[in-house]
Amino acid sequence: MIRVLSSAMSIHDSKPTDAAVATARAHANFALVKYWGKRNSELNLPDVGSISITLDALHTTTRVTLDQNLQRDELWLNGQRSPAAELRARQVLDRIREAAGVSSCCRIDSENNFPTAAGLASSASGFAALVTAATAAMRYDTPESKRSEWARMGSGSAARSIFGGFSEMAKGRLDDGTDSVARPLLDAAAWPLEVVVAITRREQKGVSSTEGMLRTAQTSPFYKAWVKHQDQDLDLARDAIAAQDFDALADVAEASALSMHGLAMSARPGLLYFNPTTLACLHRVRELRAEGTPVFFTVDAGPQVKAICMPDHRHQVSTALSEISGVTEVISSVLGPAAHLIDTV
Ligand code: DP6
Repeated sequence: MIRVLSSAMSIHDSKPTDAAVATARAHANFALVKYWGKRNSELNLPDVGSISITLDALHTTTRVTLDQNLQRDELWLNGQRSPAAELRARQVLDRIREAAGVSSCCRIDSENNFPTAAGLASSASGFAALVTAATAAMRYDTPESKRSEWARMGSGSAARSIFGGFSEMAKGRLDDGTDSVARPLLDAAAWPLEVVVAITRREQKGVSSTEGMLRTAQTSPFYKAWVKHQDQDLDLARDAIAAQDFDALADVAEASALSMHGLAMSARPGLLYFNPTTLACLHRVRELRAEGTPVFFTVDAGPQVKAICMPDHRHQVSTALSEISGVTEVISSVLGPAAHLIDTV
């Protein structure tokens, strides 16, 4: 049996009855208030909450096939075996199998439509798509908050990609992490911002977010202050989103991105994710804003710059960034949907 589901359908609507194969799509998200640091590395519990937007144009499509002949789970990413991601995927699948009462191993075929591990949130869309496809393949109907929790175990930012539009990840208090989950804040259509991504280098980044966070928490003299301050930024961003106040969101998002990078730079050895082109883009975005264009930037654990703007200004921002020497590609996107099933067999 093959049923094709519309992208607007959630996993709840699909109710697969005899699925052994399921395909899901999840979209990358970029944090406006950054997650950087863990309170528990084993369960991957964040030390700070975070707020993000999900993007339409960047996504991972993942097929999960339950296969009783497999001795262990296999992860194929863009057609190649991916041992590092396989380990994390297996840990997440173990949790889902336990809850669903399933024993079969899984073959996972995953495709990103954008560069992997280059600061474009491929682990976020990847684990959100995996959990969404795996729960459907195992015929385990579960609330979004549970999928968010499982996705978080794969990658902290993945908890947010379960939702579309604007979402907030809670730091949580419980030791078992059941309250360290994301929740939706605002639909994509309610405040249709646009994002222009300036690619300044396509290769994989040097120090992963996971490793960078660990090093920062262990060695930066400013780590405690970062954790303590985060709730203020979360309050400001939540209020700005509720009021659709672009300037207020711009202020807090740039402050959070620069604080995160300043913090990472203060680790020993310091983490430097920017390249000269990254910096040139940041200055250009600030110039555009000073001239009256509603645009602000954010940068994750890589050298790409994400410029968030009002829809009428997308073309102008995209042209300005593409003219910067060292920018190899510019990708534009509207805000995107929640993780969703594409089909089940
Ligand atoms: C800079 O979610 O990739 O993008 O939980 O170790 O997998 P792990 O880290 P990850 O970190 C994302 C860090 C960030 C900021 C953010 O997305 O909030």
